[in-house]
Amino acid sequence: MHLLHLDSSIQGDSSVSRILSAAIVEQLRRSHSGLELSYRDLCAQPLPHLTLPGFATPEATATLDAFLAADIVVIGAAMYNFGIPTQLKSWFDHILIAGKTFRYGENGVEGLAGGKRVLVALARGGHYADGSAASEHAETHLRAMLGFIGIAQPEFVIAEGVAYGPEQREMAIASALDQVAAIQGDFAPA
Ligand SMILES: Cc1cc2nc3c(=O)[nH]c(=O)nc-3n(C[C@H](O)[C@H](O)[C@H](O)COP(=O)(O)O)c2cc1C
Repeated sequence: MHLLHLDSSIQGDSSVSRILSAAIVEQLRRSHSGLELSYRDLCAQPLPHLTLPGFATPEATATLDAFLAADIVVIGAAMYNFGIPTQLKSWFDHILIAGKTFRYGENGVEGLAGGKRVLVALARGGHYADGSAASEHAETHLRAMLGFIGIAQPEFVIAEGVAYGPEQREMAIASALDQVAAIQGDFAPA
């Protein structure tokens, strides 16, 4: 079984989403013996912004192939300016590809990547969990893009309120790590 691990935070060692995505990978490694891992730091190795010629580059093909080959995908995502990091958006621009991960059929859009398990570690400075903030465009955008390609039930581990001070940040991380510890490893790809 192959796990693709992505990070996209610009905040290096002080990133919350990087702590959480690494913890998720470690949790899954414990329960899947022989799990093969590949890792891409989308901040250190950014993909180019979307262009038409860019669809046909070897890097674009390799990025899509790496996603298609993965049984499990773990995504470290930060909320920046109410959405996801531009580096992560570029990655999604490379994997939402007609005929590969979705298609338009007689009954509308059909996602083609539904057999994967996708886990997202999301860190947000403010509080959005009660759903009242119309400005939440990170989790909602991720759910929309993943749902579009057939991943209807991505698993989210969220630390939020991390910008409210060191104490709140530590509490949010601890609470998110509790969520990670509860992640089950019994996944068989479709
Ligand atoms: C450039 C930048 C923009 C941010 N914009 C928002 C925002 O719009 N809403 C919010 O709740 N937090 C915002 N934050 C706080 C981040 O969501 C918070 O630092 C979180 O930990 C980011 O994940 P990371 O630590 O993995 O980078 C922003 C942080 C930075 C550095």
